[in-house]
Amino acid sequence: MPNSESEAGAETAAQLRGRRVLLVIAGGIAAYKCLDLIRRLRENGAHVRCILTRAGAEFVTPLSVETLARQAVYTDTLALTEDSEIAHIRLGQEADIVVVAPATADIMAKMAHGIADDLATSTLIAADKPTLLAPAMNTRMWRHPATERNRARLEADGVSFVGPNDGPLAEGESGPGRMAEVPEIVAAIVDVLGARAGPLAGLRVLVTSGPTYEPIDPVRFLGNRSSGKQGHAIAAACAEAGADVLLVSGPTQQPAPAGVETVRVETAEEMLAACERGLPVDIAICAAAVSDWRAAAPQDQKIKKPRRGEGQDRGAPTLDLAENPDILATLSARGPKRPRLVIGFAAETEDVEANAAAKLAAKGCDWILANRVAEGAVFGDDENVIHLLTRPGEGAAPAVERWPRMSKAEVAVRLVQCIAEVLSSDAETA
Ligand code: C5P
Repeated sequence: MPNSESEAGAETAAQLRGRRVLLVIAGGIAAYKCLDLIRRLRENGAHVRCILTRAGAEFVTPLSVETLARQAVYTDTLALTEDSEIAHIRLGQEADIVVVAPATADIMAKMAHGIADDLATSTLIAADKPTLLAPAMNTRMWRHPATERNRARLEADGVSFVGPNDGPLAEGESGPGRMAEVPEIVAAIVDVLGARAGPLAGLRVLVTSGPTYEPIDPVRFLGNRSSGKQGHAIAAACAEAGADVLLVSGPTQQPAPAGVETVRVETAEEMLAACERGLPVDIAICAAAVSDWRAAAPQDQKIKKPRRGEGQDRGAPTLDLAENPDILATLSARGPKRPRLVIGFAAETEDVEANAAAKLAAKGCDWILANRVAEGAVFGDDENVIHLLTRPGEGAAPAVERWPRMSKAEVAVRLVQCIAEVLSSDAETA
């Protein structure tokens, strides 16, 4: 139990950091409190996306919600212009919790009866995430048998409630109906999300994943076939183990893992910058296949093939390359921000262990997960054969653990177990 206000604050931040809150702001005078709610959630490291109902927009402006959330606010009009994915499905999928505040008698009634006649109610019925309601309405509306029935129905459906509180209401009356105060709603969100538990609880982990794309001109790039499967599986397993995870991913088809803060980048330089912004972390795992090189001078316009008879004698153009930063080596460098454990990957076509041992020394990381990529295996596959090289101490030869062939998801879980073991033995000897 925290024994001071600052400890309680730190605990709230540890529980909320990286969590994704979808806030539905319905139409009620208490909507103004949502602006403060967004601010508090963001201060604690949560990501807040907002849906503003048509009635909600009568009480707070989309601009103020957007400014505080630092994200476009979703309204019925915006949802209609979204053509790539269907907003009401995606918004629920990409959240860890859905909060409705203020929850009016109207939105409670619609939720209880499965009515989906706008973006907010369609999202609520499509979302399979924990849902928390902070009701706010006149006492008589709250006490009306219809609202009581709706509340009981929603509770039976697994929806959680915070408030309403007793006290003076906007209409000059007094009684139950005031929306819970912002700190109460924040505490309820932490409760509903459930305490982060697991062997990596309390640790912040950075994972890189996927390829990088290095532009040559607006339509061409240097890249590789990395699918991001292994890195994304590791990020998911770390989150599952209770860690607060930052995933920095190059372009992949992989969806953002649940409960993981995911930053999408294209180039190696962007990947390094996103990693450095995420520091300090306890553990860094570099699973990305970062391009070693980039075009020294990417062109603003598409490079054209010379027309027949026009400079054909010049032959094919040459591409000047510049070396990319090595993210793993940068993170491994000694300094106050060096993570306690830095882990890299090595894809080798021959002499897997000898080459991986050389890489361990050259990069300065603590562990290397090496695998053989002969004949194009591994990239895009669902399975991996890992040799885990660890450094027992300064100057000592690396220890090698050979894992049997297993799925990338199993590799991720086994890696998490190894991390948990070494950190707990570190804690015992400290
Ligand atoms: O040197 P090589 O690319 O084989 O090293 C592989 C390891 O180094 C991987 O963990 C990869 O994520 C990391 N790496 C990096 N930045 C680079 C190149 C590789 O983080 N520019």
